[in-house]
Amino acid sequence: MTLLSIEHLNSHFMTVDGIVRAVDDVSLEIGENETLGLVGESGCGKTVLALSLLRLLSENTKTDGRVIYKGRDLLKLNERELRGVRGKEIAHIFQNPLSSLNPVLTVGFQISEPFLRHQGLKKSIANSRAVQMLGLVRIPSAPDRAKEYPHEFSGGMRQRAMIAMGLACSPSLIIADEPTRGLDVTIQAQIVELMKDLIKNSGASMLLITHDLSLAAQLCDKVAVMYSGEIVEYADIKEFFKGPAHPYARSFLESVPSRGMKPIRGISPSLINPPPGCRFHPRCDCSMDMCKSVHPPLTEVKDGQHARCLLYA
Ligand SMILES: Nc1ncnc2c1ncn2[C@@H]1O[C@H](COP(=O)(O)OP(=O)(O)OP(=O)(O)O)[C@@H](O)[C@H]1O
Ligand SMILES: [Mg+2]
Repeated sequence: MTLLSIEHLNSHFMTVDGIVRAVDDVSLEIGENETLGLVGESGCGKTVLALSLLRLLSENTKTDGRVIYKGRDLLKLNERELRGVRGKEIAHIFQNPLSSLNPVLTVGFQISEPFLRHQGLKKSIANSRAVQMLGLVRIPSAPDRAKEYPHEFSGGMRQRAMIAMGLACSPSLIIADEPTRGLDVTIQAQIVELMKDLIKNSGASMLLITHDLSLAAQLCDKVAVMYSGEIVEYADIKEFFKGPAHPYARSFLESVPSRGMKPIRGISPSLINPPPGCRFHPRCDCSMDMCKSVHPPLTEVKDGQHARCLLYA
């Protein structure tokens, strides 16, 4: 069963330099109990895609397409209806916990807020639920820690607090944007273990955004590779690791430390004036003449593995 269906989603920023096509005609699906990894190099549009789903982008953005969640188009809901979905049905764990936690409120209070707002619990009960949540994400001495402010928490603890906040109302879908970025390797491993347990026990679905393929390999059922605002590959995680089909996805896999750290030649294209034809053609080792002018569709290569490349079209 599909939980979230993203259909032809565009998110464009109107800037003085021109239109930034950060998300360009993206279609994806997330099933119930499924974790989809969204990967790709910095600036390709991953965070903008995630923010578009709950309409969390600034005024200068033009978003269109459809985001169907449990039969309703999130892009058509009014503010009040959206507030009912945010945090309650769909939790968003943001890329930067320090900027998304409020520095003047205690961590415990911030975690108790969804209980107060969405579940109408009494303050004292909401507080004890918040302490419980902190315990669940394995923060030691949770009752004391709940009274502290975000700056008193270490990076790993802040990340856990964000996860606790996200999970407070047992959401059906968790959007986690780089949940382990900037943490040291031991803490990363702990957060990964924690997230694995939490999704298993809650049965929630997840959209996991990361540039870290080993994280995707550990947590995801499927993976979507984004390049220059577009999805260029979409596959079952096992098929993907057996052999990515898109030349960019292959290069991206080879660029990770465990696979030789081979850098991808050239630079990421401008999102204002992306190259015509295939957006990856100037950097592609398999580029053919027609790649310069023909924009490839996303086509099935085999067994549910899709690639946006003329080699398969
Ligand atoms: N408010 C905005 N106005 C104009 N352009 C923006 C705005 N927000 C983001 N962008 C641009 O959209 C593009 C995609 O950004 P995004 O943050 O989604 O990248 P990302 O894939 O999440 O990268 P990272 O891996 O570094 O987090 C970038 O080129 C960015 O500069
Ligand atoms: Mg990002």
